Amino acid sequence: MNILQQIDPEIWQAIHHEEVRQQNGLEMIASENYTSPAVMLAQGSVLTNKYAEGYPGKRYYGGCEAVDEAEKLAIERVLKIFSAERANVQPHSGAQANMSVFFAALQPGDTFLAMDLSHGGHLTHGMEKNYSGKYYKAIGYGVDPKTHTIDFDQVHKLAKEHRPKLILAGASAYPRKIDFARFAEIAKEVNALFMVDMAHIAGLVAAKMHPDPIPYADFVTSTTHKTLRGPRGGIVLCRENWAAKINSAVFPGLQGGPLMHVIAAKAVAFHEALQPSFRSYISRVIRNAQVLADELLKLGLSLVSGGTDNHLILVDVTTLNSTGKIAEKTLDLAGITVNKNRLPFDTRPPMDPAGIRLGTPALTTRGMGESEMKQIATWIHKALSHSEDKKVIDSIRNEVLHLCKQFPAPAAIHSAYKDDSLGGV
Ligand SMILES: Cc1ncc(COP(=O)(O)O)c(C=O)c1O
Repeated sequence: MNILQQIDPEIWQAIHHEEVRQQNGLEMIASENYTSPAVMLAQGSVLTNKYAEGYPGKRYYGGCEAVDEAEKLAIERVLKIFSAERANVQPHSGAQANMSVFFAALQPGDTFLAMDLSHGGHLTHGMEKNYSGKYYKAIGYGVDPKTHTIDFDQVHKLAKEHRPKLILAGASAYPRKIDFARFAEIAKEVNALFMVDMAHIAGLVAAKMHPDPIPYADFVTSTTHKTLRGPRGGIVLCRENWAAKINSAVFPGLQGGPLMHVIAAKAVAFHEALQPSFRSYISRVIRNAQVLADELLKLGLSLVSGGTDNHLILVDVTTLNSTGKIAEKTLDLAGITVNKNRLPFDTRPPMDPAGIRLGTPALTTRGMGESEMKQIATWIHKALSHSEDKKVIDSIRNEVLHLCKQFPAPAAIHSAYKDDSLGGV
């Protein structure tokens, strides 16, 4: 019995249930991944005990020598991955990373142009209930109705019409490569700042398998926990001339003490992303997404933009007489975790849209490859075609379990979790 189990059996149970869920199901939420045991060890370390308001060498607390080392390593490594001029590794999340750019570059009421949430943008890109939509004037661009790729004629037109102070590129649900050079051209023409939120594709950019936003953007933000495979958190990369404003926007503008244990875990993930094996991991993530997309198309499903260039796929499930809500629930019962997602030009309600979003980062971390993707495509198709048939769903669930046993999730081998009394997972 481990110490947590002894002291707090209820929380231990919750953690254990989640570990079992992660091991026994197919995690296909495009924004999720399995961190390595090394990342988890750093995140669970004594660094959680330390207050370190400020930045390395300029803290408001004593005793920061060791955490300074960790933060300096995180900065050094992230700059090596992305070749940016300056980095801030303190944002607690992607939302806060984005907010720090808004704080640094805009005044309340200023106009910015970003991808509409309903076309694949993120809620921090101007949704009316989010700070970005409440305190700034957000103008949304979208995708072309035929190709489902970003409608640059529209971006250009809106930029000229509204003269935004900032143009934001990046998305949560966009399966194609983003042409940052084209965005930068438009931003330059209207004298706007250019920001890229690469949260979803950061791992692909790190592996040089997606166009690099750094040469074009004044600011690049990201989460660290998606394709980059680190702990939950955010980063901001920027040009030298913006560094002081970004640092001051993060602290003291938005946050107090940085999460030093998370920053150390970010440093570990950056170290991992600098290894050749990370490049091969990302190439398998992309290949797996393409195989999965091809197989779903062969089975007659309709995909936004007809396929994918990255790690995610948007599927229109209405062609199978399903809805996003029913599909999410049905696949969950079959052991396949996905999220319902609005599709561009979706006429269904947001809580029960026409689509689901699938991603391959987590399954690829478990070592799954092309043959598993083909198998999973047939299960998805079968489950959605028989969502009322418990027997069919149960038999897929059993097959999913069998597959999961062959590809253990990293959490299951984390030494802190090893405990025979739990019977393993
Ligand atoms: C493009 C994009 N930006 C920002 C975020 C926000 O990240 P967080 O959930 O860490 O605040 C997300 C999260 O899904 C995202 O997809």
